[in-house]
Amino acid sequence: EKEGFEHFTLKEIFEQPKAIRNTLFPRLDKNNDIILDGIKLTKEDIEVFDRVYIVACGTAYHAGLVGRFAIERFAGIPVSVEVASEFRYRDPFIDDKTLFIAVSQSGETLDTLAALREAKRKGARILSIVNVVGSSVTRESHDVLYTWAGPEIGVASTKAYTTQLIAFYLIALYMARLTGKMPENQYHQILDELKGIDKKVEAVLKKADVCKAMAMLQKDNTSVFFMGRGVDVETSFEGSLKYKEISYINSVAIAAGELKHGTIALIEEGTLVMALATQERLFDKMCSNMLEVKARGARVVAIAQEGRTEIEKYASEVFYIPRTMDELAPILSIIPLQLLAYYVSAARGNDVDKPRNLAKSVTVE
Ligand code: M6R
Repeated sequence: EKEGFEHFTLKEIFEQPKAIRNTLFPRLDKNNDIILDGIKLTKEDIEVFDRVYIVACGTAYHAGLVGRFAIERFAGIPVSVEVASEFRYRDPFIDDKTLFIAVSQSGETLDTLAALREAKRKGARILSIVNVVGSSVTRESHDVLYTWAGPEIGVASTKAYTTQLIAFYLIALYMARLTGKMPENQYHQILDELKGIDKKVEAVLKKADVCKAMAMLQKDNTSVFFMGRGVDVETSFEGSLKYKEISYINSVAIAAGELKHGTIALIEEGTLVMALATQERLFDKMCSNMLEVKARGARVVAIAQEGRTEIEKYASEVFYIPRTMDELAPILSIIPLQLLAYYVSAARGNDVDKPRNLAKSVTVE
């Protein structure tokens, strides 16, 4: 039931701290050792892999993009991420040195399942990150790491996404440690931060009213652009998808560095630009991109880490997330975007939980 929330989507957005705790804490012991129930990968297995493919659709694909970033940065293994509907129609290099990771909330998405079968036939080791227990994807995988998000009713994926991110961070850190790719102190530093991330998600949710007020200024927009750098690009894609599917606002997401390679031609007086600027390492570059669009009349709404008030020079509104490591920022930065898309959708009178033309689980091609 909706437990007092107007829609399942909103309830599920608010369930994220709990979903994150349920996915994270059972996998950690008191020494910060990661115990991945359902995953039997040994040090030897991991050392054999020369590539990782992450394959999924929609929001799960966006989680995979963050997964690539985490596995490459933490564990140093090359990763490719692909949408499942395309993966099966090329000739990807797959053999018994390939780790194939399928990501799916439902575990029933046909394209993801078909890609998995193809990879398995060619000898890949199949690991899946799935929310629905006992679903088709899990039955055909060698290893399964469940997200414990609980049932997700809203068609727009919210808590499944943030728990998929947690699953990827766990897998990446597990691989990094087992193969000695990460110094111990760094490993503990990241895990300690991860263990407090649920509280930071709660802090973001406490500011839902700020998002609601921002949404009221956006509800009549017909288009929106998202941009970011580094892992903020992935968050831009996911935020953009939320706006499309529940707010019905035409939305485009790009790497900010790509602006002057085309998209900036579309910026004019009043164009709404959502600027993701949570990556400290890339902050100055991001400010330059914001200045470029602002100078052409864009109305810039930024997401940044607390304390980065200089961003107010480049944006007309800023939503601040609690300070965290750049690597883990995707868990926090998506929350205001989910809330914004939700409040815009509700303000427009859309059927938020069941957006037009969409199904919760896509079991056809
Ligand atoms: O059940 P799955 O995670 O395999 O579903 C994949 C996509 O269909 C799904 O994420 C879809 O994009 C959502 N409606 C996004 O909110």
